[in-house]
Amino acid sequence: MKTTILCFSGSGNSYWVATTLAAQLGDATVVMIPSLMEGQPIELGKRVGIVYPVYTFFPPNLATYFIEEVLARQDLEGVEYFFQVCTYNLFSSWALFAMERSLNRAGMAVSFTDRVRMADTYVPLFKTPSEERIDRYYRKAAEKIETIGHQIDGTVIKLGPRAPFAKGAARFLMKPIHRSLMDGAAAFAVTDACTACELCYRICPSGNIEMVGGRPAWDRVCSGCLACYHRCPEQAIVFTRRIRGDHYPNQRSGYRTEYR
Ligand SMILES: Cc1cc2nc3c(=O)[nH]c(=O)nc-3n(C[C@H](O)[C@H](O)[C@H](O)COP(=O)(O)O)c2cc1C
Repeated sequence: MKTTILCFSGSGNSYWVATTLAAQLGDATVVMIPSLMEGQPIELGKRVGIVYPVYTFFPPNLATYFIEEVLARQDLEGVEYFFQVCTYNLFSSWALFAMERSLNRAGMAVSFTDRVRMADTYVPLFKTPSEERIDRYYRKAAEKIETIGHQIDGTVIKLGPRAPFAKGAARFLMKPIHRSLMDGAAAFAVTDACTACELCYRICPSGNIEMVGGRPAWDRVCSGCLACYHRCPEQAIVFTRRIRGDHYPNQRSGYRTEYR
């Protein structure tokens, strides 16, 4: 069955999960959500899925905006099976619930929900795992994706986990948390190591970076994905506050998509 996987990714974990799942399903195309924001018609298969990361308990703001404002306006008549898979490290149930709510608002019923555990990219709070540990995450994730692929192929119906206080959290916490993530301008700075290669400008999934005088400048529509920080080849992007982790360039994800 023809499958379309809509994907959002910051440092590449979700991209890798989406492309690995697509390879297993066969006749599947991965389309990156930031490339679809103009509202152009999207060629959707009979089976459609969304793969996205959890950022501060919830889906990235751009992903839920896309579902409710862009996907909702597409012709969804031919979609027979919709699945969602999030990548996470510790806590994902609010994100799965919030995404299901957004999909319901867009007129989609979710048939299958699951999650894949990956390395945590949230360096303000967590240390970046060692290479061995990252390897282990990838190996276990590959096994999980194989199971998910079989289940999707078998048109299995699987509901999301029961998330404690999910309704209240999605209603009262999602927006303030997204707004605080959006204060990207306050969070990042750039050092003299910057070579003005403009990679951060081209890969930012939210189009939140402009080059000003040869240096990146952050606007206020940040999704908090940390792609600019993790993937800067010179490690010239730094946080203005103390952080615990190191860079996670995540080469093995194969994520090289540029949006501008
Ligand atoms: C800003 C930010 C916030 C995060 N918050 C959570 C969280 O609340 N729960 C969780 O399990 N993982 C959290 N993570 C970890 C990511 O969900 C995980 O590393 C994911 O695989 C990243 O995918 P990506 O590389 O496609 O962006 C967070 C990561 C970032 C960058």
